Amino acid sequence: MASLPSSPMSAADPLAILSARFVAAIRAAFPDLNGEIDPLVTVNKNAALGDFQSNAAMGLSKRIGKPPREIAQAIVAKLELSDIAEPFNDKSIAGPGFINITLKSAALAASLVALDTPGLGVEQVADATIVVDVCGVNLAKQAHIGHLRSIVIGDALARTFERQGIRVIRQNHVGDWGLPIAMVTGKLMAEQAAGRLNPATLTLDRLEKLYKRAQQECERDLAGLEAVKKFGLGPKALAEVEEQVHGATEAFTHARQTLVRLQSQDPATIAVWKAIYDCTMSDVLAVCKRLHANVTNEATAGESSYADELGPLVDDLVNRKIAEESDGALVVFVQGTRTGEDGQPIREACLVRKSDGGYLYATTDLAAIRRRVQKLGAGRVVYAVDARQAQHFDQVFKAATRAGYATILTGKDSGAVARMDHAAFGTVLGKDGKPFKTRSGESVKLNDVIEEAVQKALAEVASRNTEMPASQQREIAEVLGVAALKYADLSNDRVKDYVFDFDRMVAFEGNTGPYLLNALVRIKSIFRKASEKGVDTNWKGALFAPNAPQEKTLALALLRYPGVIEQVADTLEPHRMCGYLYDVASAFASFYEACPVLKDDVSASTRDARLRLCDLTGRILSDGLVTLGIPPLERM
Ligand code: ARG
Repeated sequence: MASLPSSPMSAADPLAILSARFVAAIRAAFPDLNGEIDPLVTVNKNAALGDFQSNAAMGLSKRIGKPPREIAQAIVAKLELSDIAEPFNDKSIAGPGFINITLKSAALAASLVALDTPGLGVEQVADATIVVDVCGVNLAKQAHIGHLRSIVIGDALARTFERQGIRVIRQNHVGDWGLPIAMVTGKLMAEQAAGRLNPATLTLDRLEKLYKRAQQECERDLAGLEAVKKFGLGPKALAEVEEQVHGATEAFTHARQTLVRLQSQDPATIAVWKAIYDCTMSDVLAVCKRLHANVTNEATAGESSYADELGPLVDDLVNRKIAEESDGALVVFVQGTRTGEDGQPIREACLVRKSDGGYLYATTDLAAIRRRVQKLGAGRVVYAVDARQAQHFDQVFKAATRAGYATILTGKDSGAVARMDHAAFGTVLGKDGKPFKTRSGESVKLNDVIEEAVQKALAEVASRNTEMPASQQREIAEVLGVAALKYADLSNDRVKDYVFDFDRMVAFEGNTGPYLLNALVRIKSIFRKASEKGVDTNWKGALFAPNAPQEKTLALALLRYPGVIEQVADTLEPHRMCGYLYDVASAFASFYEACPVLKDDVSASTRDARLRLCDLTGRILSDGLVTLGIPPLERM
């Protein structure tokens, strides 16, 4: 029987094997060819031509200086595929020089056997630690729609790494320090002193209102003052605006004083800060839990946890001449991403200390990189953060590299610079194409969004299961609604903006969470029916027999699974997993329509082969969804 090499596991993927064989054949056919060779092997779009196709001949034509068909012939002459593929025929080279490959059914079956293990062929990475920066909410504010993406994408990436056996440390870089937080802390203390507020019964709603008011007080009409001066609007207008600005200056001074008290750990000030902290975090962590995102208290490493490190860190940068003075501030110069007229990258300043002595967002992120790489032992740090912070991360990564804070200190990669990736995501838009807001123009609270998705899911579940007790409908709707919401977010190209659409996300058709969960429920019901019919479980050791075209297509899709996990881990793009699972579910639907499993006229061996294929499909769908952070349902 034909067989494919079985180790390492992912090498059971015919795509990987064919790619390697093509590279070998190209090297043998063109020994003088230097440099990288891309075999350009893909699953054939048109299954009638074959299972796979290579476009290598077209890619090489220019480099070799021969017509592609001639190159294709030379490659085919050197290709050694007799163990896994049908012999070449006169249709094997098509069009300008495509090479078509049809796998032997037995080879495909052997690949499926190799895949059908508890680990589903996912290669395990030994001895690695990755930090995932996830959630990143700010104190005194509700988690809003923007945080959905950081929580859901960050957690899905973390789970993908965990699926590869990597040690993952989630870090929730909460904005819990600095002047804005001091502002609201001061405001709260004043309210408390005036007897208008009891910190013990503080709600996040109330807190958010106080925050906004404190902010307004600090931001009073500075722009207005300039306008009055510029347009000479007269002494009355000037006096009015100046008074407002004076209030703002006073509020600022007050906030600065509160910050100093926070920094010196003044007990009364810290107590109020802690009340704000607890109030925010208990809400936020509850939202994460409801979203089935593994973001817990242990993951919290807010900006405040770096407060004591910033002074020494900046001193270190100054002593080693990495930071320098610029207009009274301290900056680390880095090469930016944009180039100037001379074609050279424009030098950018990464600000680490303001002229008033205050530290910045970037200073804290430098300290965070140092801790993550040099204390927590990360060889890679991944940031699930809004794309609008791209420049910040670019600068911080470069500054950290220059300063040596990203240098790995121990283990096999000691001395190397840790890989730092900004997994940037786009903005969630409303149907009008503008950032998704409430009618009154506020940012949409994450809790409200979850609730609405669950309500929509409930309507679906209720209409499909009229007999079901209401409590069970609600239980299912909770899982389904959250799955729909998360899947809608994850299935969109990460860096792009996307339009938020409740009706689309809860639909049972198309590339949606409910469609995939439903595919799984259907597979489970096949096994329920099988046991009702008294079919024994001999199928577990059955021979796979992917003979029908739909069976082959499904088998080929399943075999891609380990590779997709690797791709997601490498590109940090969960939408690849979503697209893949949708392909699998669609291939399964076509298979199930064309290939009866439990009908009476199906032979026992065919039935068992198909049951085993159903089981493998179900386990891959389930594993993929769980890896995205979406728990499957028993029924819906
Ligand atoms: N709190 C930040 C914000 O709201 C996000 C934190 C992202 N993580 C980081 N390490 N900077 O913009």
